[in-house]
Amino acid sequence: MGRIPQETIERVRDMADILDVVSQYVDMKKRGQNYFGICPFHHKKTASFSVAPAKGIYHCFGCGVGGSAINFLMEYEKISFVEAVQRLGERYGIEVLHTQDSESKELFTYLYELHEMAADLYLRTLFSEKGKTILAYLSDRGLTEETLKQFKIGLAPDSWNTLLKLADQKNIPKDAKNKSGLFSSSEKGTFDRFRNRIQFSIFNTAGRIIAFGGRAIDPNDPAKYMNSPETPLYHKSDVFYGLHASRNAIRRSGYAIIVEGYMDFLQLFQAGIQNVIAVSGTAMTERHVAQIQKFTNRVLLAYDGDSAGIQATLKAGYLLFKGGVEPLVVVTPKDMDPDDWVHQHGADAFLRGIDEATPLMQFHLQTKNAHKLRTAERSQFIRGIVKDVAEIPDGIIRDDLMRILSQKLNVNEVDLARAMQRERSRLKTRGAPPHEVSKESVEISFTTKVQKAQVELVRILASDDLDSRQIARENAHLDMFIEPTLKRLAEALMPQYGDIHYPSIIDSFTDETERKAVAKLLMNHIPCTDPQQTVKDCVHTLKTDPLRKKIQEARLQIRSLETEGKDVTPLIIEIAELQEELKALSG
Ligand code: UTP
Ligand code: MN
Repeated sequence: MGRIPQETIERVRDMADILDVVSQYVDMKKRGQNYFGICPFHHKKTASFSVAPAKGIYHCFGCGVGGSAINFLMEYEKISFVEAVQRLGERYGIEVLHTQDSESKELFTYLYELHEMAADLYLRTLFSEKGKTILAYLSDRGLTEETLKQFKIGLAPDSWNTLLKLADQKNIPKDAKNKSGLFSSSEKGTFDRFRNRIQFSIFNTAGRIIAFGGRAIDPNDPAKYMNSPETPLYHKSDVFYGLHASRNAIRRSGYAIIVEGYMDFLQLFQAGIQNVIAVSGTAMTERHVAQIQKFTNRVLLAYDGDSAGIQATLKAGYLLFKGGVEPLVVVTPKDMDPDDWVHQHGADAFLRGIDEATPLMQFHLQTKNAHKLRTAERSQFIRGIVKDVAEIPDGIIRDDLMRILSQKLNVNEVDLARAMQRERSRLKTRGAPPHEVSKESVEISFTTKVQKAQVELVRILASDDLDSRQIARENAHLDMFIEPTLKRLAEALMPQYGDIHYPSIIDSFTDETERKAVAKLLMNHIPCTDPQQTVKDCVHTLKTDPLRKKIQEARLQIRSLETEGKDVTPLIIEIAELQEELKALSG
């Protein structure tokens, strides 16, 4: 990835109007100095999302997110820092050039170019004389011309080198060709990887083509689907097919429907059920779950109605739960997939399926006929579920699930709780599941008197009121800040030259939890009625606290020395001196 010079980044940051940027996506209403709207990052219908145009930052009082215009664009569009800076540059007329030192930038450019070239070729071929029968076949399966064009579905020519020749005409370097996954090599040379297949273009969230899935035309072909391999552009374990087109619908509806295949996705999307994505060719991974979590925390799994589909549903379901996403199951009729279902019975049938979606646990018990299991089988089944549930970080969800299990299968709740406890402690000794840590420490909280004093000072340092700010600057000292986050923030709020620059301050905190805390502090405008007194109180707390701690320590030391029968006089003197200092501070 190329690098953008720091000056350009700063210019973009300065020029970007946070209200203008956010208003493209969120309806904002003025209240006081700030603007409020519904948060696009979590699902509550209250207007907790706020923008401070004067400061150039946003913050949600509900879910805690916050940042600059660059950061907003990155989070909302799920694009990289570089892309966000580029887009803002375009919007505000700032030329954003990469430094040319990195060759990887060119590689990426070539890779995108190759994929675009390939998609064009495939689309052209499909709509040419050679594609006639395949076009008829796709139309028979219910795909409209509009859908084919929107999702760039095409036909790879029945030839060894059509794409290769095109790439060579455009002077695509060998390295890019090799890394694109679009060609194969043997001792006879290089040739097109995809030949005579229906090509599904796979897009990244920014809408660029990064890979292909190729479906065989011949039903006897040993590989029904052939997909692009892992490449610098394409990492299977976190790509969803169709997400670039469906993310707004997912946000709007508050949930995502996940299907297995390209055709399932297309059939639903075309039928107007657009909050859908497909895993396509891989099992769901934790990275997938993390990706979904950015958009929604509710998922309907609509996998194939066969035993493989059911197994995959259960696996994906517990993985989603583990990642903090609630899974429900749309039960696809036996031996159909959502594509067949909608094609044969219409979108209404599927919509009814959505209405009747079953929570994962209930689905699990039903589909395995759990109430009919006896003795050994039954106990093994229950133990299996306990194992899965134990990995869910949220204790309330675990309890709910165990209650359902106990009611439906008539198991003693106490026994279940005990089994759960055993499983949890087994997990802990093995190392807690990775999600647990991040889940339970999502918020930095400042609760002690000393922490609160630091927070208060930072608030005043960040305030709109220049007089208050000045008082704080004159009296507070960096050494007084003990909390690392607050110290860094205080330092940034007392620049040696120039004015405070909120967007770059907030962007300099890259750790998510830290940024949330910082956003909250910078945004929260609580007018300070008596800044002089408040600053004085805080400074007092922060100066006296270390002395108090030292006195406390000395007392403890005295106690242990006395039990050993040793001389404690020096310590008594030390305490007396410390107390004098304390008195002087309070006087
Ligand atoms: P299916 O075999 O169910 O195919 O695989 P399908 O989507 O229903 O296709 P049609 O209706 O027969 O034309 C489901 C999905 O799993 C992936 C593909 O993404 C496919 O859409 N898959 C399947 C592979 O990646 N490789 C395979 O060999 C098979
Ligand atoms: Mn199918």
